[in-house]
Amino acid sequence: MTVTPNEYVILGIESSCDETAAAVVAGGVRILSNVVASQIDIHRKYGGVVPELASREHLRRIVPVVREATEQAKIKLQDVDAIAVTSGPGLIGALLVGVTYGKVLAQALKKPLVAVNHLEGHVHAVLLEAHAAGRTPELPAVCLIVSGGHTILYDVRAEAGNGARRFSYGRIGGTRDDAAGEAYDKVARMLALGYPGGPIIDRLAAHGNPRAVRFGTAKMSSGNPHDFSFSGIKTAVLYHLRRNAHLEPEIEARRQSLARGERSADHLRALSSAETLDLIASFQRSVVEDLVTRTLTAAAERGVRTVLVSGGVAANSELRRTFESEGGRRGVEVFFPSRALSTDNAAMIAAAGHARFLSGERADMLLDPSANLPLA
Ligand code: KG4
Ligand code: ZN
Repeated sequence: MTVTPNEYVILGIESSCDETAAAVVAGGVRILSNVVASQIDIHRKYGGVVPELASREHLRRIVPVVREATEQAKIKLQDVDAIAVTSGPGLIGALLVGVTYGKVLAQALKKPLVAVNHLEGHVHAVLLEAHAAGRTPELPAVCLIVSGGHTILYDVRAEAGNGARRFSYGRIGGTRDDAAGEAYDKVARMLALGYPGGPIIDRLAAHGNPRAVRFGTAKMSSGNPHDFSFSGIKTAVLYHLRRNAHLEPEIEARRQSLARGERSADHLRALSSAETLDLIASFQRSVVEDLVTRTLTAAAERGVRTVLVSGGVAANSELRRTFESEGGRRGVEVFFPSRALSTDNAAMIAAAGHARFLSGERADMLLDPSANLPLA
């Protein structure tokens, strides 16, 4: 791909959790490269991300990942107009690697540095995808960011009088306990389905009856009705397994299969009874219904006709189908990133950084990462 002279080229760097990522994006929307080094194989045996291991792995991968991003984009580091780096929220030690490397590069190359909120990156992931498909989401929109670390609803508005597609955000609600992806990962762990849990549950759920096990929807007894809660359903699955001890031998069989490295959906499905597949399908249906209903309710209350869905769980096939059919019924257009842009990546950081770069925002050498950086 070539860069047109009036397009700014941004190098994005992302290291907030367990993916070391770098990408080159031209004009805020054209992805010239998008390199992601996943650490899943390292964290798998612990059933979740181990922060110390994540930091160490980022340190090992960041330089080659950035080099690969520039090589694939066919540019030299000196050709970038700015460097955009995730400064939060995320694991502090992991963020520190990206932020420090971003600062070093910016200083060595004498290029501007832009700090990007990871959550704003997820919003831009949807816009990147829409642009690639020749679509432009109408704003204001309601945005659901749903991943292993986050389940948050925002309203997204275009900032008045700004041609650079900068947005302002308002927080509508969020999870009070676990993130939805975290619930997927924990339930997968209880059932011995491997890590991460989302993709495998997504595959197996298609073979079960989603109405077989009833889980109540989380009732928000007080406070914000737009909040989510997923720890209740996780505990309900645990109690279901305790009540149904006859499922233990198949769990053990799957555990052994995983230990042998046999973790494909076909393998695990062959070791799962119809009862287990029903449980998985019912869990997924309950989580998906909750995410879709609360998001579309927030959109309806605001009279908003656009919904953006982003984050790792946005890759879920039932979530996509349900949002599309329910959104369609209510005249709401729902936008998703591709699967590659749903999970953590640096193209979304470069895209968010581009808008901030155009509006003159600059970070200096005092930039520090922030584990709890809010978007709104
Ligand atoms: O955005 P992401 O890569 O990292 C975080 O910021 O957390 O999201 C990872 C999460 C994991 O919890 C994973 O189980 C979940 O996204 N996930 C899915 C699917 N693919 C990934 N959850 C449900 N269905 C999927 N297809
Ligand atoms: Zn993320």
